Amino acid sequence: MTEADRRPLLQIIVASTRPGRVGEPIARWFAEYAREHDAFEVEIVDLADVDLPMFAEPEHPRLGRYTLDSTKAFSATVARADAFAIVHPEYNHSYNAALKNALDHLNQEWAGKPVALLGYGGVAAGARATEALLPVLLALRMVPVPATVPIPFAAQKVSGEGEARTFTPAPETEAGAKAALDGIAGWLSTLGLRGHR
Ligand SMILES: Cc1cc2nc3c(=O)[nH]c(=O)nc-3n(C[C@H](O)[C@H](O)[C@H](O)COP(=O)(O)O)c2cc1C
Repeated sequence: MTEADRRPLLQIIVASTRPGRVGEPIARWFAEYAREHDAFEVEIVDLADVDLPMFAEPEHPRLGRYTLDSTKAFSATVARADAFAIVHPEYNHSYNAALKNALDHLNQEWAGKPVALLGYGGVAAGARATEALLPVLLALRMVPVPATVPIPFAAQKVSGEGEARTFTPAPETEAGAKAALDGIAGWLSTLGLRGHR
């Protein structure tokens, strides 16, 4: 397979790390939805599994001179992605600390890559968290797609137990997810990677 034939890799980042998080079934639903979109290879990157320590690198991440095996492994994971979707909660009117810590760990690995944001929470639907996240992504030179996906009352849309929990999206969530995926595919096409169906 030539580079031109390769389908771009979309990584779906599960930002919440707490036991029982609703972000995990939301991310699994979005991964399946993204696979059906058929423009991407899709991989879930779960920050609970990545399990980074609180940032403890001696040098600025833009230099890429990492000292910790955990940072080196996370760098290799993120470097192979062409685009991202971040599934993130709203905590205290912003996004969660584990996500900021993960973003701060790296630099070049994020840069120049499209990113879609699926925020969720209660009545505010994660929208304040998404808005707080945008300038951080711009500082990392990422390319956020305009179609963000706010998911209100997300916990009420998750049913089942444990590994079998499923997220059932409202029609407007599904429409938002499609717009976000189309936005990523469009940017990848503009950047010279396929991603257009
Ligand atoms: C520390 C904390 C702070 C929260 N703050 C907000 C908030 O400001 N706005 C909101 O809509 N929901 C808030 N919530 C509710 C979360 O959005 C809801 O619990 C959601 O399920 C969290 O995502 P998670 O289950 O994937 O961790 C908060 C939850 C926690 C644990």
